[in-house]
Amino acid sequence: MAVRLRKLSYALGAEVCDVNVAGPMGERQFGEIYQAFLAHGILLFRNQDVTREQHIEFSRRFGELDRHEALPRDRHPDYPELLMVTNDPKPDGSPSDTKYTGRQWHSDMSFTTAPSLGSLLKSYAVPEVGGDTLFANMTLAYDALSEGMKKLIAGLHGIHLSGTRKLANDNSGVVRAEEQKRINPPVAQPVVRVHPETGRKALYIGEKVKRFDGMTEEESQPLIDYLVRHATRPEFLYRHQWRKNDILAWDNRCVMHQALGDFDETQLRHMER
Ligand code: OGA
Ligand code: MN
Repeated sequence: MAVRLRKLSYALGAEVCDVNVAGPMGERQFGEIYQAFLAHGILLFRNQDVTREQHIEFSRRFGELDRHEALPRDRHPDYPELLMVTNDPKPDGSPSDTKYTGRQWHSDMSFTTAPSLGSLLKSYAVPEVGGDTLFANMTLAYDALSEGMKKLIAGLHGIHLSGTRKLANDNSGVVRAEEQKRINPPVAQPVVRVHPETGRKALYIGEKVKRFDGMTEEESQPLIDYLVRHATRPEFLYRHQWRKNDILAWDNRCVMHQALGDFDETQLRHMER
């Protein structure tokens, strides 16, 4: 039986209806799901009350799993394939290392030499309102550039740096940021990337890009700002409002995203990727 899809927005995303990711799923059905992943950039599976093992096994069907050596602090202690995104304080009461994960435009692991093909994020606890995630279709964004701009950026490489923007007023995150920079030296990535499976060109930019290779930060920043602003025009976006037990799968090769932080921080928000 063909999988039933429902589009999530004009720009990108589709909900896969009536599928249990932990249920029996033949190669043929997974093939259809993977084709939908390539076509829509994001897939939503609602009501997935599945175990960590089942989350991991379904993710493995998309490709080899990262064991997150680049982010050792953020992974689950017992499941290195799982990356935590939680504001749940540590056992000693100190703030979670991952409470500000994703609070800037990015594509996962772009600051490493092995950026993620895709990510499957599962929600365990969501605040009463908000805690949304915003996604941008980088293929549409690239296509909408002028021929002149396409020529200008064709040979450019962005220098991607790990770490997030400073959000807390205290020192939380400083140790983590230092550690991350030590483990992950800056990495150059092409500003225009060709999707290895669809062959389509996409912008590969974001707020982890500090400058272009061979250029100063001052020279680079105006163009970085322009490209991020362009790529995040409302018509290229999908905004996800989480419900508990959603699994959202996105294609990092043609989509970038940002956690909005539009929620009451005293409420629990717990996700695992
Ligand atoms: C991620 C991420 C965004 C969010 O898990 O890769 O950026 O809204 N999360 O939690
Ligand atoms: Mn992310």
